[in-house]
Amino acid sequence: MKTRLRVLTVALAIAIVGGVTSTAVSQAQSNRPVLVYSADGKLVFPADYRTWVYLSTGVDMAYVDGPPPSQHTFDSVFVDPASYAGFQKTGTWPDKTVMILEVRKGQSRGSISKAGVFQTDRIGFEAHVKDVTRFKSGWAFFSGSGVALPQDSACNKCHEQHGAVDTTFVQFYPTLLPKAKEMKTFSAAYLAEEAQAKP
Ligand code: HEC
Repeated sequence: MKTRLRVLTVALAIAIVGGVTSTAVSQAQSNRPVLVYSADGKLVFPADYRTWVYLSTGVDMAYVDGPPPSQHTFDSVFVDPASYAGFQKTGTWPDKTVMILEVRKGQSRGSISKAGVFQTDRIGFEAHVKDVTRFKSGWAFFSGSGVALPQDSACNKCHEQHGAVDTTFVQFYPTLLPKAKEMKTFSAAYLAEEAQAKP
């Protein structure tokens, strides 16, 4: 009796895992739109962004001088696969691009790790979306709540002034930077900043 129950439990577990895997695969491969808003205009954060194209991870990045952080963080960036393919052709982003920045805690000691830093819990995520008919500048930023930030937000300003291509930080994404160089799609602001930074 006990054995039969165990066999049944194992079979059920396999069925559940199998079901979850096939859903994840079919979602990643389906042509369902990546950009979805709710009826009240909020961005619906894509549940499967971790199956999208991975661009980069920054560790403990800071944009002003200051003391080292008390908590390590990882910022990882993902983009929907169709927009990544578009970038690889043109060196810039097509309309309806969705980029997700995921923030996770970093931990140094754990399991067999005695040094270095590895990723643990997610502590937040943000989106940067290109939708030229909906937003004046062509792009909008969203924090976890899904509400679009005002077009003159601090997010817009920093990205417009320092992002290498079309308000995005391509200078930090090694699989995109060569294409932007080749297609000469750098923003004027970024080129001026780079020229100034040179000794
Ligand atoms: C002081 C400059 C600065 C500000 C302000 C800023 N960002 Fe960024 N952002 C960056 C940099 C640098 C990156 C490159 C990736 C990284 O940091 O790991 C980035 C990357 C991103 C990305 C990945 C896609 C892209 O555009 O390259 C998203 C999404 C994002 N930021 C959202 C936001 C949101 C939402 C806000 C406002 C709440 C914001 N950012 C404010 C500097 C900034």
